[in-house]
Amino acid sequence: MGEWMDKWLPEMKRNDGQNSRQAPPASQLLSDEQGRKYYELTFKCLGCGGEFKARNYIFINGYIWNTGKAGYCPECSEKRSAKFERDEKEKADADLIEKRESWRESCGIPLKYRFKGFQHFEQSYQPKAFMMCQDYAQKFPIDNPQGYPSLVLYSDHTWGTGKTHLACSIAHHILSRWSGETGTCPVKFVSEPVLFESIRETYNFSFQEKEQLPSAKNIIDLCIRVPLLIIDDLGKEEVSDLRFVQRTLFSIFDGRYNAELPVVVTANLNDVGLRSHMGGNAGNEASFNRLFEMCKGEFVHMDGQSYRDKLARVK
Ligand SMILES: Nc1ncnc2c1ncn2[C@@H]1O[C@H](COP(=O)(O)OP(=O)(O)OP(=O)(O)O)[C@@H](O)[C@H]1O
Ligand SMILES: [Mg+2]
Ligand SMILES: [Zn+2]
Repeated sequence: MGEWMDKWLPEMKRNDGQNSRQAPPASQLLSDEQGRKYYELTFKCLGCGGEFKARNYIFINGYIWNTGKAGYCPECSEKRSAKFERDEKEKADADLIEKRESWRESCGIPLKYRFKGFQHFEQSYQPKAFMMCQDYAQKFPIDNPQGYPSLVLYSDHTWGTGKTHLACSIAHHILSRWSGETGTCPVKFVSEPVLFESIRETYNFSFQEKEQLPSAKNIIDLCIRVPLLIIDDLGKEEVSDLRFVQRTLFSIFDGRYNAELPVVVTANLNDVGLRSHMGGNAGNEASFNRLFEMCKGEFVHMDGQSYRDKLARVK
């Protein structure tokens, strides 16, 4: 032991870490605020090479325990922990970005709108709807969406006025704002035809597919639980079985209504058309009434010049 110390001590310049070594003479012993005995020793900083003093408390049997904190001077220690924090933050930020981007791909936003946000929308075409949707997305309480209002964007005369674009912009904006409030994706985007197609598909699943893929109940449960559900093109589903469509929509709207969770809807129907599609009376499932209440009685009207026509003219 002694030989080992003699060999290494000069090189370590007393940076002897957690190793014990013989205490200096008792005359050098000092006493701290709580009466604990210590020696003040000089160390060479492993970072900058400068000398610094650190306390070494008495340990057992006359040996001392080096509290020289891994051999870094206070300045270097501080710099190192600041760098550690910076690195951790950078890593956490990178994880957030990666997660957001993976959700942008998996939350149901169609490929065509994957990169269409508010910044790509010409406001002058739909100034009121634009402002409402932007405000809606900016204020959406990701960590506590209960009680936040719903939003319906509709046009019953013109197609291509930017309803889907704005609905996707809301999804994009919320994903960009997400910074870990929820462990799962805060937005689910689905068009009504795609929703019913995916539900119907489950009925033809093989035994193996049933084991592996989400069931109709899983799909509906996700639509009920997600902080923000966006249903595009409500009313587009071919209504061959109106009861089935209304029952399914009712499960979703009633589930979200009871949980006080918002939905964003786009439609090519006005309130009368939506009522007859969704069911709004006691005789059928009263989804429309719930949606109307969730929107606080206001739908956003988006008729006007079709942007699609404008795009078609650009060669
Ligand atoms: N104000 C706008 N600024 C920029 N692009 C727009 C604007 N409005 C619509 N677009 C673009 O025009 C195309 C049609 O818009 P979108 O699909 O959002 O219309 P829509 O109202 O949902 O149509 P539909 O009624 O057929 O569902 C899209 O490519 C969209 O990005
Ligand atoms: Mg659309
Ligand atoms: Zn240093």
